[in-house]
Amino acid sequence: MSADRRKILVTSALPYANGSLHMGHLVEYLQTDIWVRFQKLRGHDCIYVCASDTHGTPIMIKANELGESPESLVERVSAEFARDFADFGVDFDNFYTTHSPENEQLTVELYEALREKGDIYTKSIEQAYDEKKGMFLPDRYVRGTCPVCGAEDQYGDACENCHSTYTPADLIDPVSVVSGTTPVTRESEHYFFRLSDYEDRLKAWMASAKLDRAVVAKLDEWFEAGLQDWDISRDAPYFGFRIPGTDDKYFYVWLDAPVGYPASFMNLCARRDDLDFDEYWKPGHDTEVYHFIGKDIMYFHTLFWPAVLEGAGWRTPTSVFAHGFLTVNGQKMSKSRGTFITARTYLDNLDPNYLRYYYAAKLGPTIEDIDLNLEDFVARVNSDLVGKLVNIASRCAGFIGKRFDGKLADSLADPALFDEVAAASERIAGHYEQREYSKAMRLVMGLADKANRYIDEHKPWVMIKDESQQDAVQAVCTQGLNLFRSLMIYLAPVLPDVADRARSFLGEAEWHWENASTPLLGATINKFQPLLTRVEADKVNTMVEQSKESLAAEPAAEADDDTISIDDFMKVDLRVAKIAAADPVEGADKLLKLTLDLGDSTRQVFAGIKAAYDPATLVDRHVVVVANLAPRKMRFGVSEGMVLAAGPGGEDIFLLSPDDGAEAGMRVK
Ligand code: MSP
Ligand code: ZN
Repeated sequence: MSADRRKILVTSALPYANGSLHMGHLVEYLQTDIWVRFQKLRGHDCIYVCASDTHGTPIMIKANELGESPESLVERVSAEFARDFADFGVDFDNFYTTHSPENEQLTVELYEALREKGDIYTKSIEQAYDEKKGMFLPDRYVRGTCPVCGAEDQYGDACENCHSTYTPADLIDPVSVVSGTTPVTRESEHYFFRLSDYEDRLKAWMASAKLDRAVVAKLDEWFEAGLQDWDISRDAPYFGFRIPGTDDKYFYVWLDAPVGYPASFMNLCARRDDLDFDEYWKPGHDTEVYHFIGKDIMYFHTLFWPAVLEGAGWRTPTSVFAHGFLTVNGQKMSKSRGTFITARTYLDNLDPNYLRYYYAAKLGPTIEDIDLNLEDFVARVNSDLVGKLVNIASRCAGFIGKRFDGKLADSLADPALFDEVAAASERIAGHYEQREYSKAMRLVMGLADKANRYIDEHKPWVMIKDESQQDAVQAVCTQGLNLFRSLMIYLAPVLPDVADRARSFLGEAEWHWENASTPLLGATINKFQPLLTRVEADKVNTMVEQSKESLAAEPAAEADDDTISIDDFMKVDLRVAKIAAADPVEGADKLLKLTLDLGDSTRQVFAGIKAAYDPATLVDRHVVVVANLAPRKMRFGVSEGMVLAAGPGGEDIFLLSPDDGAEAGMRVK
């Protein structure tokens, strides 16, 4: 065994520390944890490190909104991550942070190495700048009207309506998301990494890394399009590491984030005498390094990161394993449907082993998306884990305990059947190794069916009534428990605490993969404890209900969400206004120009209500207006608010009018 003992370092992508972990993240951390546990069970040296990803604009802005420092925000969120991971059985050897001295040291070291080779150069670029906040704005922090199709409220880099891509400067009526003001364009000097020089070396790496076919296809597409040099700097204010030799330039978060892998490992090395940093990160050693990631961050892990490592003279990853995205009930996770389920809400209701098994039963090695169908989840877990697996043990354990003082027979009743289970060992191992977990689960459950059939055929509960059959009962139950034991060892990477309970029940101190091929005979076992209970559909429903509630109260709404929090709602300043004048607009056949009296001020608002209202009848009417809408430049003038109305439009549009007694300027709540 020791001759083939591999030295493997494994990472999962570093979760971004500006929000809670959810079911989607868990696809990755559970996939990786299962693989690592499998390698350890096989007797390899396998180290699993991770960290929170703590730098960059989103965290800086979020901390600002919450009125705390970015340091305290990331510390709080990281502590929450650590608890969630521990409770899901994700067993890191080290979970660290990118806001660490090791990370700064290594980031600078890599950067200096690249710079000395001439792979870093500076260039002036133009960028959106928020004068009110005094900061440069990433594309996503500028919104406005799409210059191509006219769709309103689009991000600064791409239109969700027509899928055009552009820069924030192209947007019509751009607005800074941070301050609500109109950004200006400003020049500043940025640092670039010459990624364009790395095509050949990256192609060579790609060939050696045995990447999944879909990943290779994606890389080929990128090579085809041509590699662009990478802007690795950001201007102050920025939460990150300052670039040496500058006063106000910081490393872009995506430069230091992957360095979080070796930095977390370095931090572990300081605690573990048996680990040598260079053995895993410098060339010429017989070790393996794997990064598990989601398909959305392949560019960073298959181009930027290997190029940085290669350029700096470090070793490159052995491979990068990308997975797909999670959908729930066939759709993108949604807060309004209650399918945006956080790790904690899940844990408040359900046993983590259920999810570990369900994901394993669905996961393959490709970037195909996987679906968590909640009905199927209940049915699958109950049928496979409770109905098949645990059932084998619970049908045999009682007889051994009560009738034979917990003692197993000295030989198997059906060695051929045991051998069949043992013979599957290498095939199952191969599936785990290749991340073909769904195939591994199917194989194990097929064997569990056979074990149950064996017990059904022998009916120990009938035999026990016949005095002459006592030895046979012990033999049959010993057979059943041994089949259970082997299968449980095969499932130990997926169900670590169920396996632990099963192991203690069988009175064994530890399990290794190869133990599955040798039966446990003549041993005294312990009292049987229930290993896993059924999933209750009610609990799943409660979890969905709680996901609707708990997230509605969260201030910062996710971009892909269609609900808003009460805080979001409170930001809308609704006022009663009295229409002082209503005039047709020349050249616009749907619009009326309204002059609104808000009590302490007058506003001009353009409203598309001409087909429904005769302007003369509108004067002196009270309406409801959004008073703090950013002014919008239109062809006919500036519109300084929005009047609320109901209906599909055209002639069927109805102004909302407050009852008598409302006065101009009153706040609408
Ligand atoms: N901080 C970066 C990673 C830096 S690695 C040097 C990041 N963080 S993340 O929190 O957004 O995502 C962490 C991992 O979870 C990523 O690999 C991402 O693909 C994965 N997932 C996040 N949402 C997911 C789903 N809905 N489904 C599956 N995986 C998802 O990216
Ligand atoms: Zn568009």
